[in-house]
Amino acid sequence: MLKITELTKSYDKKNKALDNLTLEIKKGELIGFIGPNGAGKTTTLKIITGIITADKGIVEIDGNNLATNAIATKKSFTFVPDHPEIYESITGIDYLNFIADIYDVSVEDRQERIQRYSSQFQLDHALGKKINTYSHGMKQKLLITAALLPEAPLFILDEPHVGLDPHSSRVLKNLMLEHCRKGGSVLFSTHVLEVVENLCHKIAIINKGNLIAFDTLDNIKQNKDLSLEETFLEMTDHE
Ligand SMILES: Nc1ncnc2c1ncn2[C@@H]1O[C@H](COP(=O)(O)OP(=O)(O)OP(=O)(O)O)[C@@H](O)[C@H]1O
Ligand SMILES: [Mg+2]
Repeated sequence: MLKITELTKSYDKKNKALDNLTLEIKKGELIGFIGPNGAGKTTTLKIITGIITADKGIVEIDGNNLATNAIATKKSFTFVPDHPEIYESITGIDYLNFIADIYDVSVEDRQERIQRYSSQFQLDHALGKKINTYSHGMKQKLLITAALLPEAPLFILDEPHVGLDPHSSRVLKNLMLEHCRKGGSVLFSTHVLEVVENLCHKIAIINKGNLIAFDTLDNIKQNKDLSLEETFLEMTDHE
């Protein structure tokens, strides 16, 4: 579903934000992407989604190469960024219809999906209001609803649980699992290790631009007595 090969990225001459990162995610897999602040998670997700370009490396999604087949590649995923930056002067429903247009979602499908997802997030009552009247969490839920709407094969999210209340966080976890059960894949970054521990099929750990683990929870926790948090702290640097 997603194959990234030897991604390397430097923002300046001294430091590598990403160093030869290679990773493959299969259909149906729910992957948690963790690592300390500044490790390279957002950089990786921005390269996969084509927001920034890598100095070197290949991104393939659902069989398409991002560099040579950008439009088809971009239609095969949706992305929720870490900050809910969004057109403020339109209404929630206008924004959702705009996204549905971009992804060619039929009128019938979009009506049913908008109703289903927005009501689960208790956002349906606010869709007629302008986005500049939304709280931070409401904007986040609108972005998530918009990203769910196309039901694209790959769902990519950068720290999606930040700002969500416990109910909405639970809804999102269930929707991510449902997407994978239907054969889709999910890649999301987070600092909430408990979510990763309870939800993910595999965990990718990045440290200083290097992928230091990509495996199941049990295989990563070689010492079964340690929690994921303890294992994570042992594996990553905290000078
Ligand atoms: N626009 C930028 N210009 C210069 N350096 C950047 C830029 N964005 C990120 N970096 C650097 O790249 C490295 C990786 O940053 P990135 O945002 O990918 O980390 P992250 O793992 O997402 O961290 P966090 O958990 O804090 O969100 C850091 O050293 C950061 O300072
Ligand atoms: Mg980040």
